[in-house]
Amino acid sequence: MSKLKTENYKGTRDFFPEEMKLRTWMFGVMKKIVQTFGYEEYDGPLLESLDIYKAKSGEEIVNRQLYNFTDKGGREVAIRPEMTPTLARMVASKSRELAKPIRWYSIPNLWRYEAPGHGRLREHWQLNVDLFGVTGFQAEVEIVQLACEILFAFGATSKHFKVRFSNRKVLNDFLGKTLGLEESKQQAVAKILDKKNKISVDEFNNLISEQLNKPETDLRLVNNFLNSTYTNLSQIAGIENENSKEIEAFQREMNKLGYGEVVMFDPSIIRGFDYYTGFIFEIFDTSPENKRSLYGGGRYDNLIGLFSNDELSGIGFGLGDVTLENFLRTHNLIPSFKKRTGIFACIQSESCFSEMAKISTKLRRVGLMIEMNLDGNLKLGKQIANAEKKGYEFVLIMGEEELKEQKINLKNLVSGEQKKISIDDLQLVIQSLTKT
Ligand code: HAM
Repeated sequence: MSKLKTENYKGTRDFFPEEMKLRTWMFGVMKKIVQTFGYEEYDGPLLESLDIYKAKSGEEIVNRQLYNFTDKGGREVAIRPEMTPTLARMVASKSRELAKPIRWYSIPNLWRYEAPGHGRLREHWQLNVDLFGVTGFQAEVEIVQLACEILFAFGATSKHFKVRFSNRKVLNDFLGKTLGLEESKQQAVAKILDKKNKISVDEFNNLISEQLNKPETDLRLVNNFLNSTYTNLSQIAGIENENSKEIEAFQREMNKLGYGEVVMFDPSIIRGFDYYTGFIFEIFDTSPENKRSLYGGGRYDNLIGLFSNDELSGIGFGLGDVTLENFLRTHNLIPSFKKRTGIFACIQSESCFSEMAKISTKLRRVGLMIEMNLDGNLKLGKQIANAEKKGYEFVLIMGEEELKEQKINLKNLVSGEQKKISIDDLQLVIQSLTKT
């Protein structure tokens, strides 16, 4: 029989220990920051009823990207392509009991049937941070602030990324009132706006013109809208004052808090999901090699309403691990994970095994990390070579002589320095060496 392939499924990754170290570090930094804002961790199932995505996740996800099937009991199920519907379902099931505002986060793996490429895979992990029960712009401020603080905690500066935001209400005003488009045309124009940065100017103008009532004059209005700033948006006829004010209040507050350099109003931000009702945003790397957004999020006023009669406005974002890793690599923000902080213990004969196992257990019980060579017949040189390959800086070496003397050799593999120390002093010596 021919051998099975060791290759993983298209668009997925195997996380060997080396990659796992990077992932654990990235998740650790994210968790640390969201927790400082008071967010609590939650989780949900990988499989959900297909209906919860059909309701509001949008046409692209449901028709093209979903992994869905009928289970053995005849139920239509889907592997989660995003976390927001699961979160809305969970919050709806307990919305009356939960203390407000609800601040939750999770790092689920998500599945989308995509054409894999730079920044896009079929399985990715996504930090989801969501806040429920605050309708004022202060929630937008907190969510975007938190998103920025995560990148700062990785060592990024305001030169490395930009937060681009808009508002669905302003977009609806523009498409419906300024351009006077009917519902289906509004959706078609929104889709073209969403593609704006991926197509040429001519292609964009042609596609948009096909949808407009008065192509010549309305195309000028579209470009005028796309070039508007948070201060002159209110001058566009059709855009409600209270909606342009929302944009202004948010930007002014972000300026006041010191995020003015990274946050900018960008009317071409659309977001593909049907559930967003107001503020929407994406965060982009300023380096041109990473075109895909790092973060995507926004406010959704009535998602909970799919599951219950209670009303609770939510706002949040997703930060993908693939795009984040690309971002960190591009800006040289990933530390080396090669060095192991513990000790590798070598034995020069089988008779040393019990004593070394005993010593190792004692040291592990006080929290030290000892990885033991288990084969006393393996040549010492080979044991040390293994320790070096694994990234250890220090090894313990025990032979018959040391066993008799109740001493042990401690060797620094980098300097080559070796000293014999009493087993009784070992704990203190190792603690001082491996203190980080
Ligand atoms: P999204 O824009 O689809 O939003 O995803 C958010 C982020 O996840 C993207 O900016 C990107 O970094 C990453 N991402 C998405 N799809 C992939 C993929 N196929 N491969 C690699 N990375 C990917 C949502 O999913 C919303 N549910 C986020 C949200 C939470 N909105 C409110 N709360």
